[in-house]
Amino acid sequence: MCGIFGIVTGREENLGGILVEACRRLSYRGYDSVGCAAISAGGEVDLRKDVGKVEDVSRKLNFGEMSGCRGIAQLRWATFGAPSIVNAQPHFDSDKEMVGAHNGNVVNNVALRDLFKKEGLTVRSTNDGESCVHAVELFLRKGFSTEEAVRKANDLLEGDYAFVIGRRDEKTLYAVKKGSGLVVGLGENSNYLSSDLPSLLFLTKRIIRVEDGEMVIMGAETVTIKRIDDGSEVKREPEEITQEMGAAQKGGYPHFMLKEICEQPVVARDLLHLLNASPHAKMFLSKLQNARNIYFIACGTSYHAALFGATAFARYAGRTVIPVLAPQFIPQYLPTVASGDVGVFVSQSGETRDVLKAMMMAKEKGIAALSIVNVLGSTMMKESEVYIPIACGYEISVPATKTFMNQALAFLYLALKLGGKDTSVLDPLPGLISETIKMSREKVADVIPHLKDQEEYYCLGYGSTYSMALEGALKIKEVTYSHCEGMLSTEFKHGPLSSVRKNYPVVFVVSPDDIPVSLSGINEVACRGGYTIVISEKDESLRANAGKTFFLPKSGEPLASLLSVIPLQLMAYRLSVERGFDPDFPRNLSKTLTVD
Ligand code: G6P
Repeated sequence: MCGIFGIVTGREENLGGILVEACRRLSYRGYDSVGCAAISAGGEVDLRKDVGKVEDVSRKLNFGEMSGCRGIAQLRWATFGAPSIVNAQPHFDSDKEMVGAHNGNVVNNVALRDLFKKEGLTVRSTNDGESCVHAVELFLRKGFSTEEAVRKANDLLEGDYAFVIGRRDEKTLYAVKKGSGLVVGLGENSNYLSSDLPSLLFLTKRIIRVEDGEMVIMGAETVTIKRIDDGSEVKREPEEITQEMGAAQKGGYPHFMLKEICEQPVVARDLLHLLNASPHAKMFLSKLQNARNIYFIACGTSYHAALFGATAFARYAGRTVIPVLAPQFIPQYLPTVASGDVGVFVSQSGETRDVLKAMMMAKEKGIAALSIVNVLGSTMMKESEVYIPIACGYEISVPATKTFMNQALAFLYLALKLGGKDTSVLDPLPGLISETIKMSREKVADVIPHLKDQEEYYCLGYGSTYSMALEGALKIKEVTYSHCEGMLSTEFKHGPLSSVRKNYPVVFVVSPDDIPVSLSGINEVACRGGYTIVISEKDESLRANAGKTFFLPKSGEPLASLLSVIPLQLMAYRLSVERGFDPDFPRNLSKTLTVD
């Protein structure tokens, strides 16, 4: 997702290094274009931008040499307007007297462009970020002060966004928050703002979180926060951040994805400690106990965890749960939602627009909104009656791995508790994850030569491994750019079997409880020449029928299904690297999707 960064310093200095570092730290959000603007003490604006990776664009356009006493950087993830230099941000106003950039979505940008043109403004791109700059410009032309023009611009702009602008002849940057993230960092004789916290922590640990409907007026010495609607000043004490950004370094691993896969034993252990000790789980359970209908609502990887959770709830708590993709929740279930129902909204980021939208609409109908989130302080966390933090720390790689593990583990824990079962069965999990990672890394190396040149794959599961198969398929799709369909194994014979030919790759994820139901499916593929890979606990009938076997350490259910996602994560990672792609930042994808 797009990210913005701004800096104001007391004197003219080299800003290039800071701007590039901020871009690098925002880049985990996903982007296709990069831009930086530096405004000198004398009011000269140096604007450089292009499509491409931060490192490449910064080298090509020599961001490092940019200097000034104010700077704006932006990473763009294309929603309105194709990725191109002209659509990259920041943008100038008509007379190049002001420069600005946004994050989020201005949904009425097409109509606004017409309006701006009618008003005689110079519109250069089809990107909605430019609308933010012109909206301010429009009110400046009508004679309003900059602060008033920034406030009034929000009456024109529809959607969820945050934007920052700077004018040549001032010493200040102005920013607003309306639906997208915005955090201020307080430094010595310099201040900063950014779409998120991690990109500020290399500069300062003193921060102020800006809230929706607020604007920031930021000088080198002062930061003022005001309400956009009435201009009243907001007094908010700065927070001191103690989290170490060390967690966001690769720590010797070639990619964040591999690092985060290997962190799973540690985060799982942390989560189990947290769940056993925290009051959150108890409160959560009491809401679930008394619920009429229970919905698990999420998107992407988080939805797969929700699906796993629904199976676990049926199995261990004897409770029916409806798992549903957030946008589909609206037409399919919202009409019948009423008070007494409970929605568990699941999201790593806590900012996914599709999920937030479903949450807000469900709340209006009286649902009790609970959440399972990773990012503390996120919108979803704040909007929940009770939340469970999954304690994974920063997840930088766009493909989610460790957060999936802990979302699924949180569900399993809740299911066992709700069913009055002993959760100590989960205690061996961290050790088993370590063992599985070790075993799988060797095995994956073995199958990669066969898989690496294929353009399609299937990944099949059944029962509690169905969600794992879907998650494995999503991982492979995200990072290999090839098609991988995740499916219920028993459905494969009802159509897709026709595509099987010699060496056609089909992965079966098999729970120890479901070996008999899976065997015929494996054979149907194998006897037609397909290349079958089976992920399961050791079993001689599977060994006899499968092309390749990934045997997991013996654990039995409920842990075996959870472990089975690990070989799939590693397979996706290795395939991506073999193909020369960057698994951390797959093309076209974004870690946090705050747009429709
Ligand atoms: C984006 C990411 C996916 C993620 C999904 C949901 O599409 O690329 O990897 O699973 O959003 O994200 P959330 O933060 O809500 O879990």
